[in-house]
Amino acid sequence: MSTSTTADVQPPADRTAEWEALRAQYLRPRSERPPSSAGGVHHLALLSSDVARTIDFYQGVLEFPLTELFENRDYHGSTHFFFDIGNGNALAFFDFPGLDLGPYAEVLAGLHHLAISVTPERQAQLRTKLEAAGVPIIFEHQSSIYFSGPDGERLELLADPLGQMYGESIGWPSFSDPRSLTRGPGVTPEAPR
Ligand SMILES: [Fe+2]
Repeated sequence: MSTSTTADVQPPADRTAEWEALRAQYLRPRSERPPSSAGGVHHLALLSSDVARTIDFYQGVLEFPLTELFENRDYHGSTHFFFDIGNGNALAFFDFPGLDLGPYAEVLAGLHHLAISVTPERQAQLRTKLEAAGVPIIFEHQSSIYFSGPDGERLELLADPLGQMYGESIGWPSFSDPRSLTRGPGVTPEAPR
């Protein structure tokens, strides 16, 4: 995905050799890769300026059910709330009332975008709902559509199964849970759990 902040900078030199060296040093064939030590994304936490608006967007438009809401244990008066984004993963938010948070920005280690797998049929349905809600699709490429959430957070709905992108594997299956091999990655948003 292109970014507005890169438009006025000089393109880098040809880095093909550097990337090839990195692949040679670090990337191992699937058959030689050990299982990940991790069991999946438990939750990703973003910041919200308006709890109700965030719920209306994620639950009402994108159909990610709100699953929990309670006070942030580390910040009195702050809300911590969670949405089910399928596959056992959660998208969480905090609001930080009283803190003067700046607008969304590209910063090191910050959120560039969050990509969520959906079926092609669900992507088409949600695109219609986004457009009806006045949320513009700001970029699209192959099976991806990009748009922004209520606080400017960049989101991607990717009509590819987990572990695949644009018809190519990006590592699946490497999950240590053998159920993941038969569960049908990418078709899990409606699956019971
Ligand atoms: Fe992406």
